[in-house]
Amino acid sequence: MIEAQTNLATNLGGVPLRNPVVLAAGTCGYVDEMADVIDLSRIGAVTTKSITAEPREGNRPWRILDAPAGMLNAIGLANMGLHAFVRDQLPRAANCATTVIGSVAGNSIGDYVAIAAAFDASPHVPAIELNVSCPNTADGLVFGEDPQSLRSLLAEVRPAVTRSKLIVKLSPNAPSIVKMAEAAIDGGAEALTLINTFTALAIDVHTRKPRIANGTAGYSGPAIHPIAVRMVRDVSRSVARQAGVPIIGLGGVMRWEDAAEFILAGATAVGMGTALFVDPRLPLRVVAGLGRWVSSQGCGNVSELIGQVEM
Ligand SMILES: Cc1cc2nc3c(=O)[nH]c(=O)nc-3n(C[C@H](O)[C@H](O)[C@H](O)COP(=O)(O)O)c2cc1C
Repeated sequence: MIEAQTNLATNLGGVPLRNPVVLAAGTCGYVDEMADVIDLSRIGAVTTKSITAEPREGNRPWRILDAPAGMLNAIGLANMGLHAFVRDQLPRAANCATTVIGSVAGNSIGDYVAIAAAFDASPHVPAIELNVSCPNTADGLVFGEDPQSLRSLLAEVRPAVTRSKLIVKLSPNAPSIVKMAEAAIDGGAEALTLINTFTALAIDVHTRKPRIANGTAGYSGPAIHPIAVRMVRDVSRSVARQAGVPIIGLGGVMRWEDAAEFILAGATAVGMGTALFVDPRLPLRVVAGLGRWVSSQGCGNVSELIGQVEM
């Protein structure tokens, strides 16, 4: 049973969260490993690592690198695959002290359907997040960078998710994130997460080779935060607010002020990823700071501040 927390209790498209702070996919283990370092009963939700149909070793090293005001990663979705995950990890969701969001990745529509259905079958996963920053091997297009690809994906995944709420995690690498948000909402998304990493490249000038073995890598951390805030504002104002679809703002949150910016831009919840590599206890500080901020703004609940930027 997830108990509400004072003035921070919120609701993500029908999923009650004790507070808005969500640990981001791929940065906090499979399910509840972070319980070794922080009290998960003080966090709004954890997101699982993205699960694929087959086990994946991921890309070869180097696959993580410090970058100015952030980091680069090309982990390549290293994970144990759906079968072992359902057998060994998913049962842990039953005893997790916070809400668990299941993250799904794949290289075909069939992969997404199978993994989403497996999460949906667990009563302990109230929300499923589709990581659509993956190429479809059938046509080479990244699901989350082409509105038609996303519509085709959701046409198959939507009917397979009957119990959990369906979240679509958008990529900032699409030509128009607003068009992607429209496609996600038309396809039945009940919430959106914005944003995944920016595709980036770091070059070793001595060897003239990419510094990350994969070549390109995803850029995350404080450097991307103001861009993510702008994207949340754009998507909220142009489509999501009118459709009643809540947003998890994600990208570069290190301090409570960063999280508060996302809320003012239109986010109902706020994710944290790279921050966990700096100090896994930072989310607790963000929760505490948000609580004080809501009171200082004269509000009884954080939801009163969603989208309240004056511009
Ligand atoms: C090391 C690392 C691994 C990640 N793995 C995943 C993943 O498996 N699935 C996913 O949807 N996003 C993944 N992400 C992206 C994050 O969830 C998040 O969208 C992004 O890093 C921006 O937030 P941040 O600046 O707070 O890290 C990963 C990010 C990092 C840094």
